[in-house]
Amino acid sequence: MCGIFGYVGSRNDAGNVVVEGLKNLEYRGYDSWGVACSVGDGFLVKKDIGKISAVNGLQFFDHSCLAVAHTRWATHGGVTKANAHPHLSEDGSIAVVHNGIIENFVQIRDDLKAKGHTFLSETDSEVIPHLIEEEYKKSGDFAASVRQACLQFEGRYAILALHTGSKTIVAARTGSPLIVGVMRKDKGAAEDGYFIASDIPAFMNYTKVVQYLDDGEMVVTDGKSILFSDIQTGSEKPKREIEITWSIEQSEKGDFEHYMLKEIMDQKESVARAVNQDEEQIQTLAHAIRDAKGTFLVGCGTAAKACMAAEYFFSVIAKHHVNFAPASEFKLYHHFLQKESLLIVVSQSGETADVLDAMRVAKLKGSKVLAIVNVEGSTIAREADYTLLINAGPERAVASTKALTGQLAVLLLIAHALAGRLQEGRTLLLETGAQINDMLNPRYVHRLKLLAEKIKNEEDLYIIGKSWNYPMALESAIKIQEVSYVHAEGFAGGELKHGPIALIEKGSPCIALYGHDEVTTDLITNAIELKARGAFMIGVGPTQHEVFDEWIKVPDVAAAQPLVNIIPIQVLAYFLAVKRGKNPDMPRNLAKSVTVK
Ligand code: F6R
Repeated sequence: MCGIFGYVGSRNDAGNVVVEGLKNLEYRGYDSWGVACSVGDGFLVKKDIGKISAVNGLQFFDHSCLAVAHTRWATHGGVTKANAHPHLSEDGSIAVVHNGIIENFVQIRDDLKAKGHTFLSETDSEVIPHLIEEEYKKSGDFAASVRQACLQFEGRYAILALHTGSKTIVAARTGSPLIVGVMRKDKGAAEDGYFIASDIPAFMNYTKVVQYLDDGEMVVTDGKSILFSDIQTGSEKPKREIEITWSIEQSEKGDFEHYMLKEIMDQKESVARAVNQDEEQIQTLAHAIRDAKGTFLVGCGTAAKACMAAEYFFSVIAKHHVNFAPASEFKLYHHFLQKESLLIVVSQSGETADVLDAMRVAKLKGSKVLAIVNVEGSTIAREADYTLLINAGPERAVASTKALTGQLAVLLLIAHALAGRLQEGRTLLLETGAQINDMLNPRYVHRLKLLAEKIKNEEDLYIIGKSWNYPMALESAIKIQEVSYVHAEGFAGGELKHGPIALIEKGSPCIALYGHDEVTTDLITNAIELKARGAFMIGVGPTQHEVFDEWIKVPDVAAAQPLVNIIPIQVLAYFLAVKRGKNPDMPRNLAKSVTVK
């Protein structure tokens, strides 16, 4: 949510570096953008509404060695040039880009107004440079004044700050991610420099050596050296340098028109990567679940649907009860947590604010946290007691696809381990991965494209499922809603007759997700009930039935059925978006990595 990126070093095209790098963070927000370059004794500031990808970086060739940039996902204040970052202090000597929300900004702004400050935007962020300026008047030390300002902020922030009087970037974080990219000649790099960004793809073209800022930390760098310190105490913090393992190619879309389609196709291999876990670690975690006094599964959006499916996996396969809650609701569950409880958090980005809050609730009770994440080194991965990586590779499209199947695979593997059948689970999942590879062939994809063409003008779409296909019905609705803006809703098949069936009219498109198991007959009965009210029935399952007007065949993979059933829906959602003229990679109002509450 909002991408920020700064560079200071021996290059003299800092403006280009940050503009081009920021294009790799556009998935974090894309309503407006801005750049500040240090030039001579001042800044060159450019900002505008629209997408950073439309900006030609070369126009920023400015002989600058230091620059910060921002791509915005609006929280406070509409999409206007004035609200775009960077924001400047009253005297224009300080520029700041910010990701997060300063919750006490009204109070700070009122205090500053009383001191004569004027504000040009409707954002919470604009108070940051103004407050730093006030602190600077007292100390004359820029880094110290950023620290003093941070001590007064409530809420979440990752900030990069520049001052005309100093050739450094000062950055600080609490609640929103910041990662340093290190380029040093003494480490074999061609040049010296430091990058500071919300996410690694911003600087992947330059370096794979990173240092993570933890919450409550700040850094000061002049491009030759860097100093990490604790915001509260001001004391220096040592930091390890870590080499990341994935490559820039993995995060590029290659010949695909959109990241979403590329990432759907990545599932040909990504499920097998998710299954490739250390067996001893999986067994240890299965034991931790068995011994815990209450296991809770939390996540948001798509990841939450993986958690819901896992409730069924644990129940059917391991006969073990676990509790699911959306992360944003988990706070209210704290009465049930004990020191011996276990919280399993599932998150692609590893940065979702609601998930981090749920973890903190559990930690306050002394409970242990297992994180299932995609992004190595993310805050959730680093703050958890145990971490399992799903190894899906970078997911750039806002709509989560390959991360979901990776999450489902890992959760299904753990359920098998808990039942003492880890090898059986591994074999099932590897076979499922191979089946997904076969499914995603051009003919299959074309068939779904034709189906999208057929229903593209419908404004309502309903999806039903039972058991572990029920959360997939909910996930199908999310996928279709977010990229195509079709009103889609998912239901448990048996719930229809308790209300939603009133929505069905002649021709209403309805999708039934099913497998070959104990609930198939009931689900087909629900499909027949819909058909009797005039629904246009689309079946997604391993066997044909006369109730379906269209049938999309999927392999019969027993408990792994959710992994294969969701694939045709992802493809359908993609083509619905494209055929309705929407960009599936940049859905309106959304951003990847939701780092605000
Ligand atoms: C939907 C989608 C979101 C995310 C949710 C959680 O396609 O991507 O619903 O699943 O915001 O994000 P992570 O998994 O990063 O915690």
